[in-house]
Amino acid sequence: MSALKNKRILIGISGGIAAYKTAELTRALIKKGAEVRVCMTKAATEFITPLTLQALTGNPVHSDLLDTEAEAAMGHIELARWADLIMIAPASADLIARLAHGHANDLLSTICLATDTPIHIAPAMNRLMWSNKATQDNCKTLAQRGFTLHGPAEGEQACGETGAGRMLEPLELAENVVAKFSQEKTSQVLTGKTVLITAGPTREAIDPVRYITNRSSGKMGYAIASAAQRLGAEVQLVSGPVALEAPNGVTRTLVESALQMHDKTLNLAKNADIFIATAAVADYSPAQFAQQKIKKKKDKTKESLTLELQTNKDILSDVSHTFPNLFTVGFAAETENLIENAQSKLKRKKLDMIVANQVGENKAFDKDTNQIEIIWADGQQSLPEQTKTEIAKELMEVITERFSAK
Ligand SMILES: Cc1cc2nc3c(=O)[nH]c(=O)nc-3n(C[C@H](O)[C@H](O)[C@H](O)COP(=O)(O)O)c2cc1C
Repeated sequence: MSALKNKRILIGISGGIAAYKTAELTRALIKKGAEVRVCMTKAATEFITPLTLQALTGNPVHSDLLDTEAEAAMGHIELARWADLIMIAPASADLIARLAHGHANDLLSTICLATDTPIHIAPAMNRLMWSNKATQDNCKTLAQRGFTLHGPAEGEQACGETGAGRMLEPLELAENVVAKFSQEKTSQVLTGKTVLITAGPTREAIDPVRYITNRSSGKMGYAIASAAQRLGAEVQLVSGPVALEAPNGVTRTLVESALQMHDKTLNLAKNADIFIATAAVADYSPAQFAQQKIKKKKDKTKESLTLELQTNKDILSDVSHTFPNLFTVGFAAETENLIENAQSKLKRKKLDMIVANQVGENKAFDKDTNQIEIIWADGQQSLPEQTKTEIAKELMEVITERFSAK
């Protein structure tokens, strides 16, 4: 069986009595063709030995966050990035609480916080721990954030009680993983298409040490790149300077200035089917670049310095006018008159779609959540405040729908 061929699954094990069943889950996933790595909490190692999982997977088991040797080999960020899917089985009540509150106090919770890989959890605990409002609320929070919950099942429990809280059987969990991937395959509606995305800010140099930039973090554009890649597209990401790693399976080109972004984007647009301009490109750059660092004026009577700015090339407009058949999506970051400004930009720049988002007052820029209004010639859709990963997924669905209709 190779239903999971080329799939990389990170199994997380937390400290519950059902941990012994995870050995069987591990075997089942490997039998189905998956490459499996295991991360255990400290408590989990009291229930099943890492040696068992290491022998089954043929890979070292990861459990220590502050382990210099492990970090030098495959550190927590690499592990987070390595996986196509994370399955935590069993998921203890305590781990669920830590995840719901965004803790990163051990390796497994840190990985979960540092990934945009889909996370699946199989809760397993005593029936009263499960029905406790705290656990229920935590699970609701996780489900709202996009975690997939499997079970728990009802029945006789290890503690001797009967009720809901048993971990789903390993073979059932393995089948759920297979179903998840085949569902993903049928939803790979952008296979064979190229999506070009710009992201992040640009830097406009004043002199060799100074530049003008803006507050864009690139998070929205990077999340869209991941979402497009998951839909099967070949993704080209042209990114300004950001503190983010390139998403899995995405080709990234790093640039600095608006002019560099313009030239690179126009070049890549020739082979693209969809263009999504999320980058916060500087509208102006210094008219003159000073070859040497501009010195502070010594003459106290001349304390001000005037910087002349020139208009930059408009990437979005140039792309949409040069490639009229390319499906072009713009972003309008506005501090006021959001919808009117976005609608006028949609027409002026000949776009197929525009995504309006309110910025300023602690909104959008450098945040992990966003709230957007998607506008096209004869329609509009609002996406309420949610994580940028969720926004990106829903936005890509709308873009794909409009793109297919065109
Ligand atoms: C014998 C024993 C069995 C336990 N079984 C469970 C369990 O099935 N589910 C659970 O949520 N906690 C269970 N616990 C409590 C967890 O081990 C405890 O909350 C621990 O802190 C979880 O740590 P972790 O989430 O980092 O793995 C059990 C504790 C003991 C001593």
